[in-house]
This record gives sequence, structure tokens and C-alpha cells, in this order.
Amino acid sequence: MSQRAYSWENDVEFMSIVSDLLAHPEVLELSNYVHHHFTNRLDHSLTVAYTSYLIAKKMNLDYKSVARGGLLHDFFLLTVQEVEGLKQGSHNQHHPILACENAERITDLNEIEKDIILKHMFLVSKVAPPKYKESFIVSMVDKYAAVIEVVSPLNSLLKKRIIHAIYRLGLAT
Ligand SMILES: [Fe+2]
Ligand SMILES: [Fe+2]
Repeated sequence: MSQRAYSWENDVEFMSIVSDLLAHPEVLELSNYVHHHFTNRLDHSLTVAYTSYLIAKKMNLDYKSVARGGLLHDFFLLTVQEVEGLKQGSHNQHHPILACENAERITDLNEIEKDIILKHMFLVSKVAPPKYKESFIVSMVDKYAAVIEVVSPLNSLLKKRIIHAIYRLGLAT
């Protein structure tokens, strides 16, 4: 799932909600971290933030908190191995805490935004269920995005290899 297809850059309201965050050098640094094998952490965060924002807006929920919390849900500048190396729990358990601490350093977070960040690994870590509908949306969109981000490139790669094998084995007529 590419955020380009959703054209978040052209959504004036979305941009007005997150522009201060997107201007922050540490947030931009997320683009240097590989995420889900084929994408980077900034693109993933924007995909999750914008998709969740559109859903929350449609449902008349607090879409501003969804956009900001969604953008900061994976705001940690460490690799998976480095998070594990901290020995504070598994990556799945600990990175939301790091993301929340980092987010609080660069902006004020309301209760919904905090819940969005801290609970986004609901169902894949031992964290308590989200307290708000907004957090639930981000958590589900995060999982959906993760699957698409991994499966789509694998699908393309597999198709290319199958076609290559067909020609190599002389099976094409
Ligand atoms: Fe995460
Ligand atoms: Fe994520």
C-alpha cells in the first residue's frame, strides 16, 4: 500500500494537522530505517496515519488525534535488533513505549494520541486493549498496512521469478 496512491501530500487539512511533525528532523529520520522489509518507517507511518485519518473522519471521530498519533506510532530511531538489545522486553512490546517517549519530547500528546501510540501493537503483544475507537482504528490499519507492505513486493518478485523460470525452461510457446 503506497501512501502516494492516497495522495496525503495533496490533502490540505491532513497536512495542516501534521505539518509541524513532518518538519521535525527526527521524524524525517524515520525514512532511514527499513520497515517491514521493503519500505521505510516514515512511509509506513504516513500510510497508517493517512488511512486511519480518512476512516476516523468518515466515522466522525477525533481524526486530528488519529493523524498525529498515527504518524508517531512507530517514532523510534533504532533497528529491531537495537530495541531487543535494550533488554526491556521484545521489540513488539517495547517499541511503542519508546515511540511515546520520543513523541512527548517533540510535541504535546493528548490522552487519545498516547493511547494510539502505546496500544498500536494490540493483539501482537501483551498490551491492554485500546481505550478509544481512534486507537483501535490505528492498530487495525497498522496491521493491514504491514501485511500489504510485505505481501505486495513478494507477490511481484514471485511473478517475475515464475515468468523468468518459464522462459528459462523453454516452456513459453
Ligand atoms: Fe509498531
Ligand atoms: Fe507500524
